[in-house]
Amino acid sequence: AIDPQFHENRDQVDEHEGHAVWGPVDEPEQLGIHGTHVAVDFDICLADGACVEDCPVDVFEWVDTPGHPESEEKADPANESQCIDCMLCVDVCPVDAIDVDAG
Ligand code: SF4
Ligand code: F3S
Ligand code: ZN
Repeated sequence: AIDPQFHENRDQVDEHEGHAVWGPVDEPEQLGIHGTHVAVDFDICLADGACVEDCPVDVFEWVDTPGHPESEEKADPANESQCIDCMLCVDVCPVDAIDVDAG
């Protein structure tokens, strides 16, 4: 499962479409965590898609990740600022790849 303390245990190494990327990153095998308020561990996500389908405000967008061992696409929290903290995505992800910091 995603480490809910990732912002203390990892360093921000990059930015992607306006959100943070938390390392370590070693493409294409290791991609880190995307987002901060809505955080998706790309190294755990296996492209189940429940989060993309169920988020009521369309926070997630698919991104292609060719060569990653778990899956060749990931749910990217592209619109994390729209999140309304419903926690649905956290509940439906079968591999606990998502952390939402609802404060
Ligand atoms: Fe979308 Fe709710 Fe998850 Fe926020 S907590 S990203 S609104 S499903
Ligand atoms: Fe990935 Fe979990 Fe969504 S596996 S696509 S973060 S439901
Ligand atoms: Zn991203």
